[in-house]
Amino acid sequence: MSRKPSVLITGASGEIGHALISRLFAEDRDRPIVTLDLNPLPAESAAKVRQAVSGSILDTALLDGLLAQYEVDHVYHLAALLSTRSEFSPALAHKVNVEGTLNLLEFAQKQGESHGRPVAFFYPSSIAAFGVPDLDTKARAGKVPEDDHNVPTTMYGANKLYCEHLGRYYARHYKQLAAEAHSGRVDFRCVRFPGLISAETVPSGGTSDYAPEMIHAAASGQPYACFVRPDTRIPFMAMPDAVDAIFRLMEAPREKLTRTVYNIGAFAPSAAQIEEVVRRAFPRADITTKVDEKRQGIVDSWPADVDDSAARTDWGHAPQYDFASAFGEYLIPSIKKRYA
Ligand code: SER
Repeated sequence: MSRKPSVLITGASGEIGHALISRLFAEDRDRPIVTLDLNPLPAESAAKVRQAVSGSILDTALLDGLLAQYEVDHVYHLAALLSTRSEFSPALAHKVNVEGTLNLLEFAQKQGESHGRPVAFFYPSSIAAFGVPDLDTKARAGKVPEDDHNVPTTMYGANKLYCEHLGRYYARHYKQLAAEAHSGRVDFRCVRFPGLISAETVPSGGTSDYAPEMIHAAASGQPYACFVRPDTRIPFMAMPDAVDAIFRLMEAPREKLTRTVYNIGAFAPSAAQIEEVVRRAFPRADITTKVDEKRQGIVDSWPADVDDSAARTDWGHAPQYDFASAFGEYLIPSIKKRYA
């Protein structure tokens, strides 16, 4: 039981959770962190949290229990089935990605009503919320702004796009016909992440996974068959910049935020460019290309890059790593150490 302002992180055992817990703990050791995940929290993260709950975001009784136990004023709702995984079980993806998010928004609304302060709610959306119709349009579109090409082809992308709207509804229009005002309890803040690459963890179930998989395979001496064409291009970001963006957005004064959903980018290399830097760092790397036409189709529907000028202007999005330094200063040295 804790009546101290607490943080709730769902999907805490995933890649972003791992990095976020380290940073939250480093910034404020006294603020209780509660995590919720189906999978056990890695020991390194578990040592930094007040309580690691094993369970599902679909279990509303469990969420009600947490509501009674803690005074949560920050929610980081990271739990989701990623894009490749979701295509194999679309109905389950909808349950986890949409109903799960609704449950967390309700949780935040109730928390806000009970302690009287807005609950800051971070939601990671994705470049998967976009859907460009073909490669010519993708090439012509260049850096795509938030409100263009919102026609995703995947279940995951459709789920993310809809939950962006759900968050905006809770933040601005919740129960708009009721006599008393109910909105404003949930302070919904969302970024559309590009593909993320971490030196510490390998993703699972995503479609941007070819980049991290290629690097981790090369470093650990495993062969890797890249599932997209060499000319394939989408935006990527190094994990420390992703966590930094979460912090900047969550710390920004509310009145500075002109949108609830922000694109964020850092660099946008082709698969061939990624392979080239990986080969330079690991000359014995065994990398081949074996295109999976279906997963290729998904990556082709995502923009080559995003226009993130609103994030830069409103809350100072400023990734530290570009393509060269992400690999040269972060990924390659850390990954070499990890597999040494
Ligand atoms: N990178 C994720 C994926 O590939 C998208 O958010 O599913």
